[in-house]
Amino acid sequence: MTDLADLEWRDGGVPVSTRFEDPYYSLEDGLAETRHVFLAGNGLPERFCDGFHVGELGFGTGLNLLASIAAWRAAGIGGVLRFTSFEAYPMGAEDMIRAQAGFPELAGIADTLAAHWRRGAQVITLPELEFRLILGDARETLPAWQGCADAWFLDGFSPAKNPALWEDGLMGEVAAHTAPYGTAATYTAAGFVRRGLAAAGFEVERIPGYGRKRHMTRARKGTR
Ligand SMILES: C[S@@+](CC[C@H](N)C(=O)[O-])C[C@H]1O[C@@H](n2cnc3c(N)ncnc32)[C@H](O)[C@@H]1O
Repeated sequence: MTDLADLEWRDGGVPVSTRFEDPYYSLEDGLAETRHVFLAGNGLPERFCDGFHVGELGFGTGLNLLASIAAWRAAGIGGVLRFTSFEAYPMGAEDMIRAQAGFPELAGIADTLAAHWRRGAQVITLPELEFRLILGDARETLPAWQGCADAWFLDGFSPAKNPALWEDGLMGEVAAHTAPYGTAATYTAAGFVRRGLAAAGFEVERIPGYGRKRHMTRARKGTR
């Protein structure tokens, strides 16, 4: 039985996890943060190509998925975007829909997906999308995953609030499930996260962060 997310709505409509005491996305502008950290941080949309596979630790509200679909459509790539997200404490459909409504730019995509959230979908297939939500603790589900991502969105709340999702062992699993020359990006520049990614075989860089965060992390894998 999966535990659902425990959350409150604060500061004019941002969902905050009461289990982890951390907001699901930036209080400043969640969509701009997603574009800066996860899309640009992974060299997207420039690297998009048919079959490109995004992996995500922490699905939350689905904002990163919606922003990725919007970027994919705007880039006019054609073909299919694959997106696999790992989530231990899924939000209820109405909470997801409420959070997504905070981003009017994404309303068309949010409307398309709303019926899927209401039926509790874990697999969504659209003409341009193959989405899969893998429920459970990522420390258990990622090692068992047969897939490989071209870009990882590491979005598991702040490492101080949720160190479990940033453990060295999990960073090793991320690397093991990354395609050659694949990348990972995250808003944190915490030293232990950067060291964990480096120990897993990524080349790790600290680059300017979003909003009040001075730095974020971008990682790139070599051929293996
Ligand atoms: C910052 S939120 C993700 C925000 C999200 N990407 C979005 O677009 O809204 C972090 C997520 O990580 C999930 N999480 C926390 N610990 C986890 C674990 N051990 N395994 C999988 N997911 C976890 C939380 O339930 C939460 O949904």
